[in-house]
Amino acid sequence: MSILVTGGIGYIGSHVSRLLQLRGEDVIVIDDLSTGDGSRLGSARLIELDLAGPDAQDHLGKAMRQYDVTAVIHFAARKQVGQSVEQPEWYYEQNVGGLANLLVAMRDNKVNKLVFSSSAATYGMPDVGQVTEDYDCHPINPYGETKLIGEWMVANATRAWGLRAANLRYFNVAGAGWPELADTAVANLVPIVFAALKAGNKPAVFGDDYATPDGSCIRDYVHVLDLAEAHLSALEYLDLDERSESVFNVGTGKGSSVFEVLAEVRRVTGIDFETEVLPRRAGDPPALAADVTRIRETLGWSAKHDLKDIIESAWSAAEF
Ligand code: WQD
Repeated sequence: MSILVTGGIGYIGSHVSRLLQLRGEDVIVIDDLSTGDGSRLGSARLIELDLAGPDAQDHLGKAMRQYDVTAVIHFAARKQVGQSVEQPEWYYEQNVGGLANLLVAMRDNKVNKLVFSSSAATYGMPDVGQVTEDYDCHPINPYGETKLIGEWMVANATRAWGLRAANLRYFNVAGAGWPELADTAVANLVPIVFAALKAGNKPAVFGDDYATPDGSCIRDYVHVLDLAEAHLSALEYLDLDERSESVFNVGTGKGSSVFEVLAEVRRVTGIDFETEVLPRRAGDPPALAADVTRIRETLGWSAKHDLKDIIESAWSAAEF
């Protein structure tokens, strides 16, 4: 018996794969190696495959039968918001097409448990500071749309052939559970700030005139190790016959502003840097944090780490 982890050598997928291995599970990783890093594989087995490729269903089916796959955790996807605006077709092809192939292979091979990586990007620009899963989703970019469509596809498979699924809507994931599994992309606030410091530049703050206490945007930063644990809780939940929910926010429930994140970076690194306030970035909601009631009450999961832990772990993994 084994668990299939697509995107299992990416930043988040490799943390989940590592936790599963530590619990003694056999892990099969599917990855196209586009952004994944083979050194993160650990003792898992790697199958190189583009899930949206022409023969993906056949290859997936073969792997499911050969390794007696009982559950799938699906990370493999394109995830850059700006890129999704420039190349929307590719995002649909990869994220929606890849998931369609995966669901067909699961259905045909009777693999009926799925944890799907969704995103707070499904909410778009909510006008509440803390968003519940029942809030109307109006994504504002193709990336968020592909994730919401993914949730619909999963819901349809649940109705059509009894798939058991949990959609996890990630908030702002950061930090490192193990230094070698750290986020190597410079795409989100914490890695961007470290990269600026390394280059001797001032970190940028996108807007200080929002209607928030210090004027900068508020987000819910969740430690990648906590997020990884949430996947294991979700898998356990899928074993239950009585399940009331399938969509879960994964955050801490507490928002931090950009200035608060930067202050924590100053404390942790000991570097007394200045910042450069730039104009607002298009499409940034002023404040977005998770209401975490559902995941706490239904999965029994809550975040153990705070912003300090996140910055400390990211900093100790940073190559400076
Ligand atoms: C965080 C805050 C910026 C860089 C994105 C995706 C979302 C989800 C998580 C995957 C914002 C501010 C940033 C900088 C800044 N991804 N900022 N200076 O946009 O909240 O969420 O990642 O599912 O879908 O949209 O994350 O890290 O880009 O920004 O002031 O140099 O930091 O304005 O308020 P975001 P982020």
